[in-house]
Amino acid sequence: MADGSTGPEVVSIEREGDIALIRIDNPPVNASSHAVRQGLWNTLEELNAEGTAKAIAIYCAGRTFMAGADIKEFGKPSKPPVMPEVHSKIEQSAIPVVSVIHGTALGGGFEMALCSHARVAIKGSRVGLPEILIGLLPGAGGTQRLPRLSGLEFALDMSLSGRQVGVAEALEKGAIDRVVEGDPRDVAVHSARDLADGSLAARRTDKIETVYDQAVIDAALAGVKARSPHLVNPVKTVEAIAASRLPLEEGMKIERQCFMDCMETPQRAGLIHAFFGERAVSGIAEAKGPTRDIQKIGVIGGGTMGSGIATSCLLAGIPVRLIEVAAEGLERGVATITKNLDGAVSRGKLPADKRDAAIAMLEPSLEMDSLADVDLVLEAVFEQMDVKREIFGKLDGICKPGAILASNTSYLDINEIASVTSRPQDVLGLHFFSPAHVMRLLEIVQGEKTAPDVLATGFALAKRLKKVGVLAQVCDGFIGNRILAHYGKTASYLVLDGASPQQVDDALEGFGFAMGPHRVGDLAGLDIGWMTRKRKAADRDPAERYAGAVADRICENGWFGRKSGKGYYVYEGSTPQPNPEVATIIDEVRAAEGITPRSFTDEEIVDRYMTAMIAEAARVVEDGTAKRPVDVDMVFLFGYGFPRFRGGPLHYADTLGAAELVRRIEAYAQEDPHYWQVPDLLRKMAADGTSFADLNKEG
Ligand code: 3HC
Repeated sequence: MADGSTGPEVVSIEREGDIALIRIDNPPVNASSHAVRQGLWNTLEELNAEGTAKAIAIYCAGRTFMAGADIKEFGKPSKPPVMPEVHSKIEQSAIPVVSVIHGTALGGGFEMALCSHARVAIKGSRVGLPEILIGLLPGAGGTQRLPRLSGLEFALDMSLSGRQVGVAEALEKGAIDRVVEGDPRDVAVHSARDLADGSLAARRTDKIETVYDQAVIDAALAGVKARSPHLVNPVKTVEAIAASRLPLEEGMKIERQCFMDCMETPQRAGLIHAFFGERAVSGIAEAKGPTRDIQKIGVIGGGTMGSGIATSCLLAGIPVRLIEVAAEGLERGVATITKNLDGAVSRGKLPADKRDAAIAMLEPSLEMDSLADVDLVLEAVFEQMDVKREIFGKLDGICKPGAILASNTSYLDINEIASVTSRPQDVLGLHFFSPAHVMRLLEIVQGEKTAPDVLATGFALAKRLKKVGVLAQVCDGFIGNRILAHYGKTASYLVLDGASPQQVDDALEGFGFAMGPHRVGDLAGLDIGWMTRKRKAADRDPAERYAGAVADRICENGWFGRKSGKGYYVYEGSTPQPNPEVATIIDEVRAAEGITPRSFTDEEIVDRYMTAMIAEAARVVEDGTAKRPVDVDMVFLFGYGFPRFRGGPLHYADTLGAAELVRRIEAYAQEDPHYWQVPDLLRKMAADGTSFADLNKEG
């Protein structure tokens, strides 16, 4: 190697007669780190200087072809040679180059194949441009070369969706040249020989012009603006692809500028935090180690949650025994599960031919005793402690030794539930989010006595169900619902003090939430919160400002939201309108409470709402309910519709800084010192200048 920064173990040359192979070996996913880029540069120089090889094949060792740029390097100064330079060197190589894809060729990895003179893929592999998902765009020639090889529409589709494309489709679209079977190294040898003797034709993108159509670009631009109004990178992606009408070199410059513009955005940082956060939550010691074997699951309760959980298990290929107390409930449960599975087929999540097999794995039963042979029971019945205690007491007598007993409670004390059994070590909370077969969050709640292998099995199950498992400790509401219970009040206080429900919703949707809190309330059913408030009325803290007065009055009218046609909004026609009668209720409540309404800007609304969320989230980290700030962030991204591009509440908090948050809370506390209290953790962080990202590193 000409450069000391790379060794033969990362990028090396292998010679086979008159052809040469460049082997990349950078586990786990052959990301194009600086060592790889430098290694490619050096080996290409070396082979071209020698000039003896008739063709070069680039292939990767390990489980996959290159998964793209090394994402960990983003946000740091880029070290040359950068990827577009390396790719241009490949394209300009006097010796023809073929890339041999196995596993997944993603982002810069696929772009390396595109800049090669030919592309061969091993059957079963996939290609993709997932940069869109991390706030970027294909920045190593993908926006210029894919339109040349496969047309504008396919390039826009791949770059804007980030989807992984099977090689059959990629071949049909001309994005690759050949699909073969075999081992990557053998295929590399054969492909290089074929390229050398002309039986594999070279297609160099610098010799191809894009078939350009402005109408296609205009439609794509209108589409991304409508679909992702908050995001910068989809618009930039279209802009870069449009530049493929220019000569390659000029188009590459525009692509680079668009790429760097995206790199500078906080959205890119937020989305990359989400990418690593999703993986970090299961990277903890509690998620590792021995697990128990789960072959069959029992689900108690055929309501919305139980049916959703059962659906989720069936989709993962795990047989389910569904228990209900009455035949009617059981039938309803089976019908819901069937409907869920049909929905999964129509959404493309389940191949149509697997649907019947999934249903065949469901065994409905009215006999709790039939749970004797299951490996894990998921109780998903009414959220009432005495009901849960009774069920767990029975399960203790029925289930085989070593079976895991899990409760899908959303806020109840797992330790109390476990205490009625003779095996508290086998008990944990597995809190799913509705609809349970769609939402990806699973809070894994550790009881005082939960055994380590039971906890690790919870994480393994989350993975099997394709969910994001996050560890939580016992408290009222665990991580997510506890934080929600706190900041949800802010929306009500804002309305009491002068904002309209619609303004609050619009402001928060402007921030990036898919739906504002009042629209969510209408969708979920306002009666749910009403029942909870009534149940908890006796325990209400008299010092706390009551947040439910307006919602109570709405519910007293029988307006429970969408399902009753009216709530905060009126659901007639295609667009819901603010309910005028709610405005009257609000006026009356304000008058009764002696409140003089004032105006709030959208920014003030977002600031208060987010500050309240961050304050409780900080307390959740401080008292150990969540292990690290990133756990809170993932709970909100995967369970609460928090805008992914903002990374999560505590990643967002770092963009504000602890000192600013303390300042805000102290200012709001002038109005309501009971609700607005500075968490000790935040005060400490403000004093010593640390961030939640620092705490993630420590944890
Ligand atoms: N850079 C750095 N690390 C990466 C990485 C990347 N591009 N891709 C994956 N990793 C890491 C993961 O963080 C994980 O690390 P860990 O074991 O320490 O948690 C490890 O590799 C394995 O990843 P997964 O757990 O995700 O393994 P899977 O087998 O489930 O998935 C994968 C593999 C499909 C490659 C998936 O990791 C993936 O989608 N990676 C991201 C690919 C991507 O976004 N590429 C585009 C990068 S941007 C780019 O190329 C810019 C260019 O256009 C200029």
